[in-house]
Amino acid sequence: MVHIDDIRICVAQPEDEPRVLDFLRIHYYLEEPLTVGREPKQQDRADEIFNISNIVHGTSLMAIHTETNSIVGVVLTGPKDPGEADHLLEEAAVEGSTKWGITLKFLAMVERDANVFQRYGVDKALHIQVLAVDGKMRGKNIGGRLITELVEGGKQWGYEVVSADCTSHFSARLLERQGWECINTVYYKDYVDAGFCC
Ligand code: COA
Repeated sequence: MVHIDDIRICVAQPEDEPRVLDFLRIHYYLEEPLTVGREPKQQDRADEIFNISNIVHGTSLMAIHTETNSIVGVVLTGPKDPGEADHLLEEAAVEGSTKWGITLKFLAMVERDANVFQRYGVDKALHIQVLAVDGKMRGKNIGGRLITELVEGGKQWGYEVVSADCTSHFSARLLERQGWECINTVYYKDYVDAGFCC
């Protein structure tokens, strides 16, 4: 059995990319609601590349079980600026009507409506793209530890604001428990019903 004291948090390095992706394929993509809530359930390769490419920024963290050196949790983050919604729309245009292209359009709308930069008077923020904990290790506050250390790291790296789009009930609840403010709620169903998805 893994004891919580046997878990350390560290910054993910580019050489960790393959094992982080292996971890996400099991503990993130098979459950993340925006991925499995739509057909086809399988994530696009472009989605994986987008998320994994955040590691190069040096602001993504892994929770590691010290004894086995295995990953038990991950938070992938990257920088964003006031042009983020436009960047996402540009990528969405390149992707077209693929699953990932539709996700990008949705995330661009969420980004625009959240209006993080004007709301908090900043010109850059650290954005959480992925949060995942090993399915057998949930409920041990591993996600909470990753977020606490990320916010600390964010300050050291010069970010006054850390933001996230919580696509899961569990991640939203976790962040609210940590004192985060929910500034915008969008239901994917309403977005689809309004005909924005194609
Ligand atoms: N399904 C069912 N129960 C879950 C759960 C899930 N996906 N995530 C957490 N829980 C339960 C825990 O078991 C715990 O229950 P308990 O109080 O009875 O012990 C409770 O919720 C609190 O768990 P918490 O410690 O806050 O969560 P965590 O840090 O272990 O995991 C996530 C939270 C979001 C990282 C995890 O749900 C996850 O990896 N989900 C899959 C990927 C995903 O959807 N990510 C979010 C997209 S932004």
